[in-house]
Amino acid sequence: MHINLDEAADKISQGEVVAVPTETVYGLAASLHHPEGIKKIFTLKGRPSTNPLIVHLTDPKQLAVYAKEIPLQTDLLINAFWPGPLTLVLPANIELIPNIVRAGLSTAAFRIPSHPLTLKLLNKVKVPLAMPSANRSGRPSATCRRHVEEDFGLDFPVFDGGNCTHGVESTIIFYTDAQWKIVRLGATTPEMLQKVLGYRPEVVAKKTGENPICPGQLFRHYAPLAKLILGIDSSADVIIGFVERAYPEFEKVLHLGSLYAPEQAAENLYRLLRHLDQEKIQAACVDIDFPKEGLWQTIHERLMRAAQG
Ligand code: TXA
Ligand code: MG
Repeated sequence: MHINLDEAADKISQGEVVAVPTETVYGLAASLHHPEGIKKIFTLKGRPSTNPLIVHLTDPKQLAVYAKEIPLQTDLLINAFWPGPLTLVLPANIELIPNIVRAGLSTAAFRIPSHPLTLKLLNKVKVPLAMPSANRSGRPSATCRRHVEEDFGLDFPVFDGGNCTHGVESTIIFYTDAQWKIVRLGATTPEMLQKVLGYRPEVVAKKTGENPICPGQLFRHYAPLAKLILGIDSSADVIIGFVERAYPEFEKVLHLGSLYAPEQAAENLYRLLRHLDQEKIQAACVDIDFPKEGLWQTIHERLMRAAQG
């Protein structure tokens, strides 16, 4: 159910949860000052309490308040990418960021989104928003109001901002051993980060055990109910492929977009994965013969995760 800016701000200020558009994917937002609202986010999503949330800010100056340490080159990254799809994991001021948001870690993840409506809402609420993606845990993220309503019901309050333009989540980086490293690939590519940092940040693999670097990477993610097969497999009911290619062995082709436009493929990705379930498709295969650099690397990683399990 669409709600307007004032209604969204009121609900959040009263400790309620609303869905909010961002340039990457829709988020489920609660005020950082309302731990009971934040708790509702975990319940609604079915999210493990060990998976922390991103704190969404309006002004980079807030980092001095909510973070305990600001690593080298943070200012360069902020100037280049904020507002926008880059999330920084920093040592947190644990007095101001509730334990539940951090899942008990000593760090917190921060970003300033660039969607004009998210910024308007943040400015109106005047408190940072804890906000994970607006999907039930494990499902593909939501990139429009209809996706949010699929997962949370038609009555769920959604501040509708149209379709998300990036279509994949923010890139998450953290600073360790005197280097920034990528813990989640996303809409900001390693190549874009390299231009600012002067080196290409390493993508660190998930680490199980006591202190995972990015807890979310441990869980199954982005998965449709349909079986997803990577690579061309004629036993599948449909193929997800590219407009430049023909797939004569398939009756039904779903187009991710053009091989020359990774931005378009990223924007369409979760919509197509959700479409498989809307159409009750049992098994789909994906043409993954595309470059593995830039945004394609993120698309490939999401498809691999979606195909697991
Ligand atoms: O684009 C995005 O980032 C979207 C929009 C709504 O902002 N948000 C999003 O949130 O993708 P979520 O909760 O779906 O993914 C956040 C990821 C999780 O994998 C979580 O484990 C990780 O961020 N994370 C949060 N705090 C962390 C921390 N302190 N250290 C390491 N990883 C953290
Ligand atoms: Mg998510």
